[in-house]
Amino acid sequence: MRLRRDDPIEVKSPAQLAIMREAGLVTAAALRAAAAAVEPGISTAELDAIAAREISSAGALPSFKGYHGYPATICASVNDQIVHGIPDAAQVLAAGDIISIDCGAIVGGWHGDAALTVSVGPVPAAGGRYRPDELDSLLRACERALWQGLAQAVPGRRLTDISHAVERAVRAAGRYGIVREYTGHGIGSQMHMEPAVPNHGRAGRGPVLVAGMALAIEPMLVLGEPSTRRLDDGWTVVTADGSWAAHFEHTVAITDDGPVVLTADDGGAGGFAALRPGSRAGKPEPAGEPVLAGEPVLAGEPVLAGEPVLAGLEAAATRQHVSDALEATDGI
Ligand code: MF3
Ligand code: CO
Repeated sequence: MRLRRDDPIEVKSPAQLAIMREAGLVTAAALRAAAAAVEPGISTAELDAIAAREISSAGALPSFKGYHGYPATICASVNDQIVHGIPDAAQVLAAGDIISIDCGAIVGGWHGDAALTVSVGPVPAAGGRYRPDELDSLLRACERALWQGLAQAVPGRRLTDISHAVERAVRAAGRYGIVREYTGHGIGSQMHMEPAVPNHGRAGRGPVLVAGMALAIEPMLVLGEPSTRRLDDGWTVVTADGSWAAHFEHTVAITDDGPVVLTADDGGAGGFAALRPGSRAGKPEPAGEPVLAGEPVLAGEPVLAGEPVLAGLEAAATRQHVSDALEATDGI
């Protein structure tokens, strides 16, 4: 991401967050459609077309296309590519690959941004550069770190409480490299806004979070050293050492009722529930997986996005036509 320094952090009204929720849901749908199409033999250009169709059929606009000249709807980053891979008809997925798909949609001028990493199945049991369970653990560590970060998106916390929670979760999960040269970002009336959201660091620093802010949190983990290199296409970011990478991202709204994950269909309820100690949500731990020492999830505080918040946002969205809402809330 690129940022202009010293821009103030945009604070959205509830009506504006309701429109961002719409953008988030379109983003989620496009990402889901593209991820569902991942299989050996499909090209990343085909995945791009699937996401593009989903966004346009929702009456939304792709957020990435044209951004500083970026040519596509998604970023598709395969194996040692970390982020910002450009979809390409010549890049055909093979069983055992992992791919980060990153997508953004705009509704009424408001942005959503989300990413996930999946493995291309059926994963060969052996013969690849990494064992399948090693890759699976990488992906789950990255996603879990994202959710630990999202859980800190609460009014009164400070920005690096998020960063610290992400780093802690990564350290608890294993020996992964955390990419430092790219970060998450504020988001709203533009895709990339203040503040930058690092994925590591001491807690308790940076701006105090207030209701109405929205952030895109996006940890990038690697199996080797975290230093990066950009390819000659000017976009694709790869690991300098060729090790493989995972990337997960959600857009979250900070509200008085806790974090609302705008790019998750359920607003984040499932993702936060999976963080609770003892939760077996998601896949069972594979045998031999080190059991994580009880990470103090959410610091014992009920910061889960509850239904009421989501219902409020949904209601605001249906009450007001997008353009009415924008007019009513002009001049942020
Ligand atoms: N989630 C990515 C980021 O914030 C999206 C980049 S879109 C691109 O960096 F157009 F810049 F590639
Ligand atoms: Co982003």
